[in-house]
Amino acid sequence: MQKLIIKGKKELTGKISISGSKNSTLPILAASILADQVRLKNIPLVKDIFTMVELLNYIGLKTKIIKKKNIIEIKNKKKNISTLAPYKLVKTMRAGVLVLGSLLTKYGKAKVSLPGGCAIGSRPVDLHLYALKKLGAKIKIKDGYILAEAKNGLKGTIINFPSISVGATENALLAASRARGKTILKNCAVEPEIKDLIIFLKKLGSSIYMKGRTITILQNKINNTKITHEVIFDRIELGTYMIASALLAKNKIEIDKINPKINKRKKDVLRKIGIQKKKKKSSIIIKRNKKLKKITISTEPYPGFPTDLQAQLMVLLTQAYGVSKIREDIFENRFMHVPELKRMGAQIEIKNKTAFINGPTKLTGAEVMATDLRASVSLVLAGLIAENRTIINRIYHLDRGYEFLERKLKNCKAEIKRI
Ligand code: EPU
Repeated sequence: MQKLIIKGKKELTGKISISGSKNSTLPILAASILADQVRLKNIPLVKDIFTMVELLNYIGLKTKIIKKKNIIEIKNKKKNISTLAPYKLVKTMRAGVLVLGSLLTKYGKAKVSLPGGCAIGSRPVDLHLYALKKLGAKIKIKDGYILAEAKNGLKGTIINFPSISVGATENALLAASRARGKTILKNCAVEPEIKDLIIFLKKLGSSIYMKGRTITILQNKINNTKITHEVIFDRIELGTYMIASALLAKNKIEIDKINPKINKRKKDVLRKIGIQKKKKKSSIIIKRNKKLKKITISTEPYPGFPTDLQAQLMVLLTQAYGVSKIREDIFENRFMHVPELKRMGAQIEIKNKTAFINGPTKLTGAEVMATDLRASVSLVLAGLIAENRTIINRIYHLDRGYEFLERKLKNCKAEIKRI
């Protein structure tokens, strides 16, 4: 089992380049089932992407990853297509369930494993199935699989999601993109990754309009489709390195390969804490800040503060003055990093859905256990600011979503190695 060893308290200096978004690439890969030929640029070379590509191969698509250029080429030869997404692939990467919408709308049937729970919560897919049923699919659950059928194709309708879900919005978009007539999706997730998927589906010939949380999809005749698409940057990776820079930059760090216009938040949380930043056309400059301010915040769907940055923000707040509060409102079990951070000296208490973080506290290195992707990277951040050595176990979680993490940090003079 691989581990990361970090010698903390090293100042960071240099430049960090942000990779393509994992959470944008995954639904776009699922959408590639709808195309004849796709060339995807700026894909991150991380485990979840390789698992999704393996799933596309299993289904019968031909894929080629050009690693040096971060490109995937996909061809749908239309022969020997399987509409099955097996348990062994979906259980390791929940986004596998997104092939359901594409397979069903294109081939009229799909058998997709139910993903099951994961470390951060039970994560059901009832909203995905609710949308597909509204579009006319017949759905049964049998032996841990979703059996979906639409013999005469799907039919456009109005779907009002009872609560906001990124994955359910994506699956509904995929399915509706080839449904007959007009579909109106209400109370949708509107993350930049959803917008990227819409741009991709439009290139495939769909007419899609977005206004607030309502998305309208009109059926179009789709012929031979050969498209190229460049995936947007990873805004969660950006947030993670912004936090690292605010804590440890020798002076300032430039983070590039981003588009500041894409990521428009309701509140500028990092600025409120006292982080100084300067936006440029395709980069952002972060200055180190020694006097961070406390904050009270809840995680929310976009444009609110993302749950995927909650663990990293918590590490930052261990260094802020006063008691900060973070309420986790998206997932029911996303404070798994707290006991590990406490072992490193953080003063954090959890009451119901809220973590109370008392700062500033000196962190000291310890041997800790990573539990999910974002919890793992929060331990890396904690290790970087802690005194002495931190050993992080179970780092395969990190490899699911952070491209070249050690390389990027080492380039900025961090002392981090994998054994
Ligand atoms: N939910 C339901 N029923 C459903 C679907 C969702 O109750 O049918 C609940 C979930 O259990 C959760 C909430 O709704 O409590 C929101 O879940 P959502 O469907 O929005 O999340 P997701 O699509 O499963 C994506 C990201 C996550 C990210 C969340 C929230 C991908 C591949 N995953 O998951 O990313 O945390 O949206 O923004 O896009 C990560 O990258 O580390 C990660 C977990």
